Amino acid sequence: DLSGLEAVWLFGYGSLIYKVDFPYLERAPASIEGWSRRFWQGSHDHRGTPEAPGRVLTLIETPGEVCTGMAYKVSPDVFEHLDHREKNGYLRFTTAMTFRDGSQHEGLVYIATEENEAFLGEAPESEIAQHIACASGPSGPNTEYLVKLQLALQQLGVNDPHVTQIYNALVND
Ligand code: BEZ
Repeated sequence: DLSGLEAVWLFGYGSLIYKVDFPYLERAPASIEGWSRRFWQGSHDHRGTPEAPGRVLTLIETPGEVCTGMAYKVSPDVFEHLDHREKNGYLRFTTAMTFRDGSQHEGLVYIATEENEAFLGEAPESEIAQHIACASGPSGPNTEYLVKLQLALQQLGVNDPHVTQIYNALVND
């Protein structure tokens, strides 16, 4: 039980932006430098199945790029819940986050690297859109993840070109 310990910041760039099923003390838009969102992680347990994995986000190291998301100040025991929710190959690292007022803080981030079994890797955005259109898992259709994410990013005032290209390909086909 970690409930007596000090609160920590968690940086969310994917489902953590739109699906907040954990308690938090504070939240604020924030960005991290040197990383980009990519639909390169396979989902066997949420948006797909082991036979037909869905595609969900991870972060890929991209020097010079900035990834904007939502930071949450949480009690450390929230990680027990999230480690279970995000068990499909994600690990955590710490990085500097910048808030909109320019202040900086260390934050924890979940990432799935190419070393994990579920990693799918790069594909053209049009192919990723077709993949997402067909996949579904215990958490629901893969399209719901994409649509909710795109709306949440719009509400944050963020246009992520990779996500927008996939979203447009899905909506227009
Ligand atoms: C995120 O939104 O930051 C996230 C959600 C699930 C797994 C990894 C990251």
